[in-house]
Amino acid sequence: MKKEKLIYKERRGTDCLKWDGMKRNFGTNDLEAFWVADMDFEAPAGVTEAVRKWAEFGIYGYYSVPEGYYESFMRWEKERHGYEVQRDWLRYSPGIVTGIYWLLLNLTKRGDSVAVLTPVYYPFFSAIKDTGRKLVGCPLRNNKGIYTIDFKKLDQTLAGVRVLILSSPHNPVGRVFTPDELKKIGELCKKHDVYIISDEIHQDLVLGDKPHHPTATATDAKVVTLCSASKTFNIAGLSNAFVVIPDEALRKKFDAFQKKNAFRSGASVGYVATRAAFETGAPWLESLRDQVRSNFALIRDGLKEKLPKAVVAPLEGTYLMWIDLGAYVKPEEIRTVLQEKCGLAVDYGEWFGFEDYRCFIRINLATRTENAQLALDRLTAALAKK
Ligand SMILES: Cc1ncc(COP(=O)(O)O)c(C=O)c1O
Repeated sequence: MKKEKLIYKERRGTDCLKWDGMKRNFGTNDLEAFWVADMDFEAPAGVTEAVRKWAEFGIYGYYSVPEGYYESFMRWEKERHGYEVQRDWLRYSPGIVTGIYWLLLNLTKRGDSVAVLTPVYYPFFSAIKDTGRKLVGCPLRNNKGIYTIDFKKLDQTLAGVRVLILSSPHNPVGRVFTPDELKKIGELCKKHDVYIISDEIHQDLVLGDKPHHPTATATDAKVVTLCSASKTFNIAGLSNAFVVIPDEALRKKFDAFQKKNAFRSGASVGYVATRAAFETGAPWLESLRDQVRSNFALIRDGLKEKLPKAVVAPLEGTYLMWIDLGAYVKPEEIRTVLQEKCGLAVDYGEWFGFEDYRCFIRINLATRTENAQLALDRLTAALAKK
């Protein structure tokens, strides 16, 4: 497979959330950033070229979304993931999280129960709470860092629930669910009449030999899928995502909802970049995955040697490393150790699942090797002597 060189960039001073906006969560902007899931690499050259062409034209008027935009996504889904998406299933959302809010408003009523598998990407919690729905958590089973679904518990959890929001691949535990797991989830959802919102933003960030299977291809339960090029190709600031709605009744409702809320379309540059990413980004993605695999191995092996009781979840998918430091830090010390001793800004485990994960951290691996080494060195220096 052809590869494209990754270009690392110092992002401080560019008004980016990851480096320049950490103060809100960490009280300072002076830490090394390993939180926020975006990358320290330039987007694929084909994306930059398309955006440059768009910018150089100098007229940024109203846009007519070309069919090529939709075709690039449908081709990608079919060739990469075996999902035959139909053109009329596709709707726009500025982001996956916005799409989740919109779908919850369409699929449920205030007070309805919505389930998630915890620990999980924390904006799922906000979407459920902000829309006045009731959050029901179903904890994943954790066996020394290997996370699996407790189907008995899921069966009990889904009774009375209207929607299950799935992160597949799963952020933060790095699981790529097997077709069998997805099928079983689907069976339980059918049994309890639960709609699945499948957030597949990490679909292309698969690192092991297990392929990603779109939920909609693994089950005949009701599934609406959210996807984008944003995570895969580092273009999240351009606000462009797909809501894939095979169900005609939901599509009609969703269209009426967008109309009623005076929603029109996204910014032209988001469509331009997304199309270019799907059309030209594959060689870049190969290099990115190599880099993430190598950063993961570096930190995992270094921890194994110097902090052998740290539990690292295997990274099947995503570029996010999930580590249990419970053998070395007390829950109440985690922020002091990570921020003051290590100088690192990471995602804290408790954000993903409350009390149970207070000794966990999530590290973003989409960066250069030197940064992965720095994170490892600082963690081991602070914790090895404790
Ligand atoms: C599982 C998951 N869903 C959604 C998002 C964010 O998507 P968006 O920026 O399109 O709302 C992220 C970002 O990290 C994520 O990990």
